Amino acid sequence: MKTVTLSTLQAFKRAGEPFSCLTAYDASFARAASAAGIEVLLVGDSLGMVLQGHASTLPVTLDDICYHTRCVARGKGASLLMVDLPFMSNASTERLLTDAGALMRAGAELVKVEGEAWMAGGIRELTRRGVPVCAHLGLTPQTVYQLGGYKVQGRNAEQASRILEDARTLVEAGASVILLECVPASLGRAVSEALEVPVIGIGAGPDVDGQILVMHDVLGVTHGRTPRFVKDFLAGADDIHSAFRHYHEAVKGRQFPAEEHCF
Ligand code: KIV
Repeated sequence: MKTVTLSTLQAFKRAGEPFSCLTAYDASFARAASAAGIEVLLVGDSLGMVLQGHASTLPVTLDDICYHTRCVARGKGASLLMVDLPFMSNASTERLLTDAGALMRAGAELVKVEGEAWMAGGIRELTRRGVPVCAHLGLTPQTVYQLGGYKVQGRNAEQASRILEDARTLVEAGASVILLECVPASLGRAVSEALEVPVIGIGAGPDVDGQILVMHDVLGVTHGRTPRFVKDFLAGADDIHSAFRHYHEAVKGRQFPAEEHCF
């Protein structure tokens, strides 16, 4: 695989070619995912749940994320490395810039931030300083207590048009990528069609530009709690390397997500 950059993702979007993304938390699994062809690796704050055993992503610190970013950066190969800004990095613009700086120094090539249209100012300041941003909309796990649980967002017309407008505003402010989590497939398609930047989906239907899953979910390590949008790619595969390859190929071939994975 040639080194994946933001321009690669934009070219995929223009060509209508989907791309695959997967979370990674250490060098060995990052190397395996990259060797399988997965174009984008995310050091997600989901590490708070799948590695540390917390009930949410909120306890994850900047130091935790920087540590895992340094690990993944050593194994990422040609994949693009996206990294999450942790809970409360968006408490002020100053903190946002300082925290994003720490992530970039640790190896991030794209930082992901949760927040709605009000994040436009912060995103503008980040992009002015050369930090590429992915804006995470829809189900934003850092606001899980406000949302009242991990629930599908944008189900009614008013919510859906707000998410679409927020995405437009954040792209205008400089976001290079939008990530949509747990929204109806129709909204995933509408956001992707409305924007020139790549839209990555998790539980956002088949008609977005890229798909992302949490690595533990792809390997069936869900402890009996499997969200609808997840598929266990290790089931029926010879080993973890083939599971990653099957996931990548299913995304590229538009076999994943299938209807049963969508809202
Ligand atoms: O933290 C994470 O793993 C994420 C994905 C669910 C997209 O944000």
